[in-house]
Order: sequence, then structure tokens, then C-alpha cells
Amino acid sequence: MSNATDNWWRSAVIYQVYIRSFADGDGDGTGDIAGLRSRLPYLAELGVDAIWINPWYPSPLADGGYDVSDYRDIHPTYGTLADAEKMIAEAHALGLRVILDIVPNHTSDQHPWFQQALAAGPGSPERRRYLFRDGRGEDGSLPPNDWHAAFGGPAWTRVPDGQWYLHLFAPEQPDLNWDHPAVHAELDDVLRFWFDLGVDGFRIDVAHGMAKDPALPDLGLTEFSVLTAEGQNDHPHWDRDSVHDIFRRWRAIADGYPDRRVFVAEAHVRPGRLAHYLRDDELHTAFNFDFLKCPLEAGPLREVIDRSITGLAAVGAPPTWVLSNHDETRHVTRYGRAYTGVRSALLDQGAPSDHALGTRRARAAALLMLALPGGAYIYQGEELGLYEVEDLPETALQDPTWERSGHTIRGRDGCRVPIPWLGTTPPFGFGPPRSVPWLPQPQDWTAYTAEAASADPASMLQLYRAALRLRRAVPAFTGEAFSWLDSPQGTLVFERGAGLLCVVNLSDLPLPLPDACQVLLASGPVDDRILPTDTAVWLQRD
Ligand code: GLC
Repeated sequence: MSNATDNWWRSAVIYQVYIRSFADGDGDGTGDIAGLRSRLPYLAELGVDAIWINPWYPSPLADGGYDVSDYRDIHPTYGTLADAEKMIAEAHALGLRVILDIVPNHTSDQHPWFQQALAAGPGSPERRRYLFRDGRGEDGSLPPNDWHAAFGGPAWTRVPDGQWYLHLFAPEQPDLNWDHPAVHAELDDVLRFWFDLGVDGFRIDVAHGMAKDPALPDLGLTEFSVLTAEGQNDHPHWDRDSVHDIFRRWRAIADGYPDRRVFVAEAHVRPGRLAHYLRDDELHTAFNFDFLKCPLEAGPLREVIDRSITGLAAVGAPPTWVLSNHDETRHVTRYGRAYTGVRSALLDQGAPSDHALGTRRARAAALLMLALPGGAYIYQGEELGLYEVEDLPETALQDPTWERSGHTIRGRDGCRVPIPWLGTTPPFGFGPPRSVPWLPQPQDWTAYTAEAASADPASMLQLYRAALRLRRAVPAFTGEAFSWLDSPQGTLVFERGAGLLCVVNLSDLPLPLPDACQVLLASGPVDDRILPTDTAVWLQRD
């Protein structure tokens, strides 16, 4: 694509395709590339700029595909490399760019490298590509240190010869040793493999976890990054400063292609540290988890928005905005609860949620997100207003969190339920009639299908389509101008240059709209120029 569109990523709206749950072309109950290809026109019509596809590589699916056993192929349940190539070409023909998910922190335990490491035994070169260590205690029966795994339990698993290996996630996801040149060389080559096939970029899984302190010291009570007086991070495995060497190397690879290839970081780091990942010679953008996790309240939102814009402006990077993804409770459900932010699963799972309220707020949040300068992410189904499915039968749960937490945390399956496309009974067009989706869909999704939404002018889908159309058509959206205007407590009002205003009322009181403005788009009814609670509007000054 031409140089004129080289900066597309700075303001791109990127649609996240959780491929297992998007569309099932062959009727085996799992989404696939054939299904995705059949829905590309829907995505083009929605008006997004790119898609990001969650891992589609061969994998035992111990963690939904974030356990990769071959980085250069497609899981047979999703299709073939030839299907992938066709999909990429079709997406490009529709003006959609394609971003893949790369999982460089860990492989699957079924990856040939890990199998070779197990077979080769302690002290072998094969083991050095991972983080194998002897245990502590007289007989080595205690883990080498006190690190814990993100899904629960210790971060170490013992193998039959007595050594232990590190896994910051599930035991089926052994961490790679990023101090090993072969690991660098391999992942460099994997990036090139897909770039050569035509993909436009990568979302980097657990970007903040790849570098480890080689001494693997105990964590003690440290939960997150620990900054020294010099501003260095001393946490032994999150957000270490040496991780940036990897990304400089990756950036040089991307920049070796004549057209722009981009990276987006999944980096859960302290505010202020994210900019380090987005320096000129590193990654292009990063998810804004502070925004996703923020309660839907004017004060905290304003703070996060300011911090995001100014923090990243320091390195010349655009902010991004995101409300939901495949790891978090869908925001319709969150916004219908008493506490609207994200805390720990133990605090929030199952908290009562008023879906009508959550939907009203989700509509307002969509107009807020899509009016902000920079990029935005839409998680599949949010444009249909889907809520979290919180009552999946326990026997259906597949997220490793459920088992690893001793059945105390249900995990992330509730936001991964297959998409309802049409009709009035499951599988709602997700797959052919009578196919059985890998997670059961609620019966009331009849009202949430893309078909029903397309026929309803007041649907969430129509709101997203209208917003994305205006985002492209109205010149004020093309720049990165942004300034706050004074407004009453509990409300947010900002201008995007050339008289384009976004007004969000999160207070308990109705908010009179400014004079001499036309309403371009509203998230709910606006009568007599009064903006009700939990409503947002885009205005153009006369
Ligand atoms: C990221 C992914 C999540 C996965 C984890 C381990 O956080 O988004 O789904 O479980 O990494 O790869």
C-alpha cells in the first residue's frame, strides 16, 4: 500500500477476531478461517481499518491457542496456510489490514523445542532455550524460587528427572529463555515468515514478561514493577528494562519492509512505563489497559485520558483506547454493575449487573472511545452489545484459570462465547444449522444477532457503523487535536479541532447542550437539547 497511507496505524480502528468464536465455516463447533472469510464483508461494512486475529497456530489449546506448538502453520481446525493467504488477500482487497498475534514469552509444552529439552536432560543445550533449574531443599523437591503463575499455583513444574521449568502462565506454557541467541533468531525468522506472507503487523503477547533477571531471585512481596532511584525496574520478570533490546531488533525487521508493518504491545505496566515501549525505534502502539479498567466515571476517565495522551506524546506515539477483549468481562456487564471498573476476578465475578443500564452506558462509552484521538480496538461482539455469559455450566468451562484456581475463579470463557449472526436458535448462524458451538450461547441472543441488529435502527451495531462512518468522513477526526472544555462535574466535554465536540454525561443530572451546535450522533434519545444521564453525543458547531 502507498506511502500516503503509511501512518494508518496512528488512528486505526482495529477489530479483534477471537477466531475460535467468530464464525465456523465447517460446522465442527469452532470458528475458522473459512468462517472469517465469509464475514470479511461484514467487517468492511462496519467500517474498521484492520483486524487482529488471536493465535491461529497449531496448538493443544491448553490456553486457547496462547500455547503455540508451531509458529509457522495454521491449526488444522482453523484451516491451512493456503486459506490464510487467501484470507489476507481478500481482507486487503476490502481495505482491511491484518494483524496477527505472536506469542514470544512461551511456547506450548508440545513444541518440538520443549520436547527436545525434556528428552535431552539436565545441562543439555536443548534445555538452555527454556528456563530449567534444579529445585531447592535437600532433594530439590522445592521450586527454584517463589514466583507464582498468572493462572494460579507456582510458576514452576518439576519434570521426571527432577529439574524444574519456569512457566509464568499454565504448566503447558514453558517460558522461553530470551537470553539465548537461538530464541532471538527463531522469532526473528517467524516474524519474517508472516511478514513475507503479507501480514501488516503483530500484537505481541505478554510483551512485558519476556526478559527475566538471569539470577531468578525470589520475589518476596513484590507484586509489580519496582523502580530504583535511577528509574530502573528491578522486578525480576515484569517490565524489565532489557526487554527493550528485543523490540529494537524487531522494529528493525519491520522497517526492513518497504510498506509499513506495525507492532502493538500487550504490556501490563505501571502508568508512565508504557511510553518506553513506544520509543521511535521500538513498537508502534500499545493497548491502553488503564482505560479499559477505569470505572465509567468522569473524574477517573479524565485522568486516564490525560495521562495516556501526554505520556505517549513525550515519545511521539499515539494513544489507543479499548473497552473489552478476550481476557476481560464484557463491558456491557461491567457497566451494569455497582462498580464499573476492573479489579480482581474474585471481587467482581458474578456481581449483579443491570444489562439495560450497562448497554446504555456501553453506547455512551463507544462514542467517547471513538471520538478520542489515536487508535481504538473493538472486541468482536461488542458492536452487537453482547454481555458476559456468566452462567456457563461448570462442565463447559475451558479457561485454565478454572482448574488452576481450584474452581474459585471461573475465568474468561464468558466473553468468548461464539458470535450470534442470524436466526432464532443456537448456533445463531455461528456455524451451519445443528452444529454445536464449543461454548453454549444463551437463548436470548436471538435479539443480539447481526441480522436482528442490521434491521434495527436503534441497535448497537447501527451506532458503531454510524460512528465509524463519521470518523472517516469528518475532517476533524483525521488530526490528533484534542482539548477539554469546561463542563459540570460528572461530565466530559472535549473538542477535536474544527468545532467537533464530544459531550458525555456520566452525572446524575441532565446536561443542557451548548447552543449553536448540530447533533451528528447520539448514543441515546436527546430531547430539547438536553443530554440525559449515561448518554454521549457528537456535536458540530455551526
Ligand atoms: C495474554 C493473552 C491471554 C493469555 C496470556 C498468556 O495475556 O491475552 O489470553 O492467556 O497472554 O499467553
